[in-house]
Amino acid sequence: MADKKVYVTDESSGTQLNLPVILGTEGEPTLDIKALPSTLGYFTYDPGFAATAACTSKITFIDGGKGILRYRGYPIEQLAERSTFVEVSYLLLYGELPTETQLNHFRDELTYHTMVNEQLNHFISGFHYDAHPMAMMAGVVGSLAAFYHNRLDMENPEHRILSAKRMIAKMPTIAAACYRHHMGWPVGYPQNSLRFCERFLHMMFSVPAETYEVSEVAAKALDLLFILHADHEQNASTSTVRLVGSTGANPYACVAAGISALWGPAHGGANEAVLEMLDEIGDISNVPKYVKRAKDKSDPFRLMGFGHRVYKNYDPRATIIRAACYEVLDELGKDDPMMDLAMELERIALEDDYFVEKKLYPNVDFYSGIIYKALGIPVSMFTVMFAIARTVGWVSQWLEQCETPTKIGRPRQVYAGPVERRYRALHRRS
Ligand code: ACO
Repeated sequence: MADKKVYVTDESSGTQLNLPVILGTEGEPTLDIKALPSTLGYFTYDPGFAATAACTSKITFIDGGKGILRYRGYPIEQLAERSTFVEVSYLLLYGELPTETQLNHFRDELTYHTMVNEQLNHFISGFHYDAHPMAMMAGVVGSLAAFYHNRLDMENPEHRILSAKRMIAKMPTIAAACYRHHMGWPVGYPQNSLRFCERFLHMMFSVPAETYEVSEVAAKALDLLFILHADHEQNASTSTVRLVGSTGANPYACVAAGISALWGPAHGGANEAVLEMLDEIGDISNVPKYVKRAKDKSDPFRLMGFGHRVYKNYDPRATIIRAACYEVLDELGKDDPMMDLAMELERIALEDDYFVEKKLYPNVDFYSGIIYKALGIPVSMFTVMFAIARTVGWVSQWLEQCETPTKIGRPRQVYAGPVERRYRALHRRS
């Protein structure tokens, strides 16, 4: 792998160090800087990890300049058009597309694990009715470790894959339970005769007093959104899962930490923030005013759903979701004026020098909320939807890390606080 060398010279001491270059199968060459502190005595400074690879991974590839996203080598466009979320989950977990037998077996396994211990519902009912569902999700998912402590030997590959499947299967059940608690509806149990997304919609929206028919269009649209959100290499929440996992923590604790990281508006919380922003803009005539605000450095306002650390081109997921928005609204017979507003905002922003120069394009979250809204998912649940899908990526990355010799994640710092000083007794401080 390391067939190139880069030389770093400390001119003050004349010491020179060869830094090996690591070449992946694709992507930018990466300098291996591990020897820097012990040979030259320097650490590296990279706030936000904008220039740092923290691991080697075989799961997801992104070329942000070209707008490419692939899971295990398969282009996202092909998976979005031809695959299903359950098949993509298998692909991410195991590295290959399943045979028909493998897929059926995997689907059965996920179905078998959909129920949660009834005590967990008591835990959920302890939350205030208007608790944010992401706060509930972080707490409830973390608590799963308390139910499965006899299957938490992280050295045991069978325990690891079982935990991963449990998490993928139970996330929709927990998410729907959080929503139903907010609505004051009775617990909705998973119907194992239904498929993954149908089952989730049934758990969300069926009430004992009515017959609920799951809409095929809605289930298909949800499946597409879940495929697009399933993994995205070392983003903030996945890196959080890996960092927590590097301590040997159990996977439920890792995913609970991932959920918390995802909730931030700079990350997965942006899908909720986009709808709130579009609501606030209100009318197409107000778009120029908000674009002007987004460019004003003295104003903290940013165009939510715009910009990405890695994509300096159109986010390929946004391209797919944008096209799906029209189809879903059309098929569900809904006409959402927010779609026109979003389109106008995109048009004006993409013609503006500020956004062009900074390469700020719509990201995955810009249009996803419009589809969720059309499916009847409340805005406060948008980031939860993201978390259900991303759980597959989190556990796949966590499994990969468990299978690779890993050091505990422990960044360094540039200390800028006071140098040593003497403690003064309370009566001598002024
Ligand atoms: N609106 C206005 N200006 C923006 C925006 C935006 N949405 N995004 C970035 N910029 C500007 C910044 O002010 C900065 O300008 P400067 O160079 O003059 O200081 C420049 O573009 C670079 O922005 P950074 O914040 O340094 O870029 P970074 O890679 O650290 O952040 C991020 C990326 C967090 C996604 C950012 O673009 C953002 O806040 N976007 C809005 C929130 C959002 O949509 N998040 C979802 C991301 S996708 C996901 O996580 C699922």
